[in-house]
Amino acid sequence: MSKVTTQREGNVLVVTLDNPPVNAFSTEVRNAMAAAIADAATDDAIEAVVIRAEGRMFSGGADITEFGSAPVHPTLPELIDAIEDLPKPVVIALNGTALGGGCEIALGCNYRIAVPGAKIGLPEVKIGILPGAGGTQRLPRVVGVEEALPIIVTGNPVSAQKAQEIGLVDRIVAPEALRDEAIAFAREMAGRAEHPVSSRRTDRIGDYDANVFNTFRAEHGRRLKGLDAPAKCIEAVELATRLPYDEGIAKEREFFMELVNGDQSRALRHVFFAERQAGKIDGVGKDVLPLPIRKVGVIGAGTMGGGIAMNFLTAGYDVVMVERQQDALDRGTAIMRKNYEATARKGRMTAEQVEAAMGRLTPVLDMAALADCDLVIEAVFELMAIKKDVFGQLDAICKPEAILASNTSYLDVNAIAACTSRPEQVLGLHFFSPANIMRLLEVVRGDATSPEVLATAMDLARKIGKVAVVSGVCHGFIGNRMLGARQDQANALLMEGALPAQVDQVLLGFGFPMGPFQMADLAGLDIGWDPDTTSSATVREVLCEQGRRGQKAGGGFYDYGADRQRTPSEAANAVIRDFAARSGNEKREITDDEIRERLLYPMVNEGALILEEGVAQRAGDIDTVWVNGYGWPPHTGGPMFWADTIGLDKVLAGLERHAARMPDVHVSQLLRDKAASGGRFNG
Ligand code: 3HC
Ligand code: NAI
Repeated sequence: MSKVTTQREGNVLVVTLDNPPVNAFSTEVRNAMAAAIADAATDDAIEAVVIRAEGRMFSGGADITEFGSAPVHPTLPELIDAIEDLPKPVVIALNGTALGGGCEIALGCNYRIAVPGAKIGLPEVKIGILPGAGGTQRLPRVVGVEEALPIIVTGNPVSAQKAQEIGLVDRIVAPEALRDEAIAFAREMAGRAEHPVSSRRTDRIGDYDANVFNTFRAEHGRRLKGLDAPAKCIEAVELATRLPYDEGIAKEREFFMELVNGDQSRALRHVFFAERQAGKIDGVGKDVLPLPIRKVGVIGAGTMGGGIAMNFLTAGYDVVMVERQQDALDRGTAIMRKNYEATARKGRMTAEQVEAAMGRLTPVLDMAALADCDLVIEAVFELMAIKKDVFGQLDAICKPEAILASNTSYLDVNAIAACTSRPEQVLGLHFFSPANIMRLLEVVRGDATSPEVLATAMDLARKIGKVAVVSGVCHGFIGNRMLGARQDQANALLMEGALPAQVDQVLLGFGFPMGPFQMADLAGLDIGWDPDTTSSATVREVLCEQGRRGQKAGGGFYDYGADRQRTPSEAANAVIRDFAARSGNEKREITDDEIRERLLYPMVNEGALILEEGVAQRAGDIDTVWVNGYGWPPHTGGPMFWADTIGLDKVLAGLERHAARMPDVHVSQLLRDKAASGGRFNG
């Protein structure tokens, strides 16, 4: 089947794109579409053209898998120029999402009509490039600089309605009428002598506030720091206001080539594909169908339980939430309502949606109410004895086909499953805090977990908007196990003479949103700390004993002002220095380079062990966990991709150089082998 077909409707040539799943503009599509446009140019019977698409969207843009190889003609810019140069009107019919090259094609047409649900945008910046098929030069000419800037620099799409308001779409029509309306529109325009041509428009481009670029840079500066693509996007739009179109396009091409061949875009493209690849599970083929889930049970209404429940309520599931005591249940329910109301105040939910979501919640004290749930997720205290007790009870209460999941952070899912008569229906569903916001879900596959149950978890994750990664059973699974490797070194560095601010600063400089000691303060230093048995044995214990229990207490590793701004703490540093002096280590100046290597190389090594043991299926899964769950800067691609980029031989050499100070780090054989052969973790 051809991916581009043409039909004649009287004097209108209808060009239809059909390249599932996302109608990407692959070489084959570009060739076929260029041929159709050339036909329209030479055929006197054709007076107008409609470009449309089959499927659930118009197009996801250029075929990203083709990036990195030499450009093949006709390139997307050449195809769009050919459309724009056609001396006959071209109407584009957007049947849904039109992103990147899909939007740029639309900009090359004279007229644009769309269905109400269409989303139109230029997300290129999210994969580390800029729109490279005229988008940075045509969009400001069509909608003006002030509207174009956020679309290009944030990469967030606009709705069809907004697109119409700003002049990006001419008409909005119902989906069932789209094809006919597009043909009628084209016929109507065929009679006109002049048509709007985006690249030649001058009516919108000059009309902007001179400060717009500086204001935009100031407003978004923090979020865009260290990233190459957004800066180039802003520069390209700025050039659109100053240079003739042809010169602007030449600069756009230059920036595009520079970015697409750079490390940041390579890393971000890896993150894009790794997230999608993570959904594919070894041993679970497409023929394994997910089980139906309608009603979900959550046990525990604490920090995690409430957030987990919100995911399902928002997505339209009925949820039963169980607690032991009424006050804990009331507290948990009230926090959920408060969170929903905050979302509504930001305009991201209506008051009716808040009520509908809360209306789907049944808060109870009796586990018997879970009897007809299709899935139950346990989020009680992190103690094996309690988990075992809960799962034993669940097994007796829940219907035989129900799936039973634990949100445990570290514990052995196989041991939990063994407390039930249905280990094949037990797995870990490890959400991240705040569970209603964080995108990551680790799906922990027990030895007995059935393929159907895994397929159901992955399907459900997608339905509640999560990025799911499968992990085997081990202490801490993929994410927390690697976090442990980093934390051990962070603690050791304090004993060798570093202070929290220096350690954290190195990771902030690398692109993490926070360092390990900031994170500890935020989570609370008293997690797992017991005032009755405390023995002043660790820095953390002493800080807790002194009432320095983290940000919530006004102090932890740092001091916090009323505005929650952190400043290095003399009191905490004195505790650290005291422990360091007694540790037997010689105090020394530690360089930022050493701190970076000591924190990150052991993580890469732990990732290699995780791969070697088969706990993770592929390196990209590890990267997906760290980018989506722990703030690893996406433009470096995740720990394994980053290690590939800097060179595995360098990582190994670093681990060996610091070996004497890291006696507990056992270097992975996989890492050694790959370093020796010049291999990579990712492909
Ligand atoms: N090129 C190649 N493959 C793509 C693709 C693209 N632009 N967009 C999606 N795919 C693939 C995915 O990898 C996935 O493959 P798989 O089935 O083998 O895993 C499949 O299409 C389906 O993708 P999703 O699971 O993401 O489908 P959704 O329906 O959830 O989302 C989408 C669809 C919103 C279009 C989303 O895929 C997306 O955001 N795509 C990328 C959009 C983008 O960045 N476009 C700009 C491209 S660059 C460009 O146009 C350059 C130009 O300026 C020169
Ligand atoms: P929490 O202490 O905030 O909440 C636990 C809740 O469970 C309490 O409200 C308690 O009353 C309730 N509970 C205890 N036993 C119960 C029982 N038998 N029946 C009904 N309710 C019961 O704890 P949190 O932080 O929500 O953690 C829950 C689980 O989630 C733990 O396994 C933890 O390791 C895991 N987790 C925690 C994360 C976090 O950042 N807090 C992140 C990811 C996982």
